[in-house]
Amino acid sequence: MKAVICTALTGPRSLKVMDWPSRTPGPGEIRVAIFAGGVNFGDLLVTSGKYQVRLDPPFVLGTEGAGIVMDCGEGVIRFKAGDRVLVQNNDVRACFADEVTLPAIRAVHVPAGIPLTGIAGFPLNFGTSYYALKHRANLLPGEVLAVHGASGGVGLAAVKLGKMLGATVIATGGDGEKLRMVKAEGADFVVNTNTEPLAERIRELTGGRGADVSFDPVGGDVFNAALRSTAIDGRVLVVGFAGGHIPSAPANKILFGGLSVVGAPYGGFTQRHPERWAQMMSALLDKVSRGELTPLISQRFEFEQATVALERVAQRKVVGKNILVSERGYAET
Ligand SMILES: NC(=O)c1ccc[n+]([C@@H]2O[C@H](COP(=O)([O-])OP(=O)(O)OC[C@H]3O[C@@H](n4cnc5c(N)ncnc54)[C@H](OP(=O)(O)O)[C@@H]3O)[C@@H](O)[C@H]2O)c1
Repeated sequence: MKAVICTALTGPRSLKVMDWPSRTPGPGEIRVAIFAGGVNFGDLLVTSGKYQVRLDPPFVLGTEGAGIVMDCGEGVIRFKAGDRVLVQNNDVRACFADEVTLPAIRAVHVPAGIPLTGIAGFPLNFGTSYYALKHRANLLPGEVLAVHGASGGVGLAAVKLGKMLGATVIATGGDGEKLRMVKAEGADFVVNTNTEPLAERIRELTGGRGADVSFDPVGGDVFNAALRSTAIDGRVLVVGFAGGHIPSAPANKILFGGLSVVGAPYGGFTQRHPERWAQMMSALLDKVSRGELTPLISQRFEFEQATVALERVAQRKVVGKNILVSERGYAET
């Protein structure tokens, strides 16, 4: 089969499309014919050896994807050949390939009517943001949610989920054109961090109170601004560090601001609680099939363009999500 292989931990330019052996599913596993895989910020980190789990090259890249079950190993009862599935596999990755073999517990059914290529980049972004907003911060209807890095994969998912959960959403980012798209996708207000003072503008928009929940996948100065623009009794979600700087939280600000600073380790959650992950993902897919959630695909690339697709992420040229589409996937579209 054809697969996108990371040949060295030197960044996206080390990616090559090569022949790679397909694997027969063992007990509890399924083999899936991949239609498309989602391109994530984490893939960038993996290709440069900066991800928390360091893999030894050569290996197949890709944490998530969608496709059709080809065959099932012993003991698999939830799936059968021909089922349409969405998969996410933080351990083994390997979704940028014609086929992936993985534990059945890492897959969920895709409801009829949802195109597999269109949903391939859904699990990591929408799973992370839902886990953060609902499970970790308990965002409530009527609250104000500030989403930083709002044009990115997890950011835009948080904007859409925030609206779905009944919050008023303030979206922030550093690019006016991308912010216009985020507003068109549902944000109530946008703040451009390059032209406006971030914390002050959020306070102004909330009548001086600040946001009830601040969602931060950027880190660095953005995190400090989030601490200063979150309301008393508010929650600051630590989601990631796309800006490259891991900040520290001054304890006096947490104390006097009455803040909860809450980590959202979605990868760990999916590994520790695969059944809860599958339930959550199925419920979110149900929202997609009812038209209540619409993931945004930025661009589609062939496997041979994997380097370009990842470089676009590094260059901050993506709104929502890029996907890599296999030959089977192109036949679907
Ligand atoms: N907690 C978890 O389990 C979990 C799960 C998935 C991802 N993450 C983490 O969340 C972060 C964001 O992931 P993502 O998939 O949303 O990434 P992404 O699609 O690349 O989006 C990142 C956003 O951050 C903003 N940003 C600000 N400064 C930046 C900088 N110096 N470099 C790059 N982006 C910058 C960009 O918005 P503007 O260009 O508009 O400013 C960009 O849209 C990453 O650190 C990722 O590892 C964590």
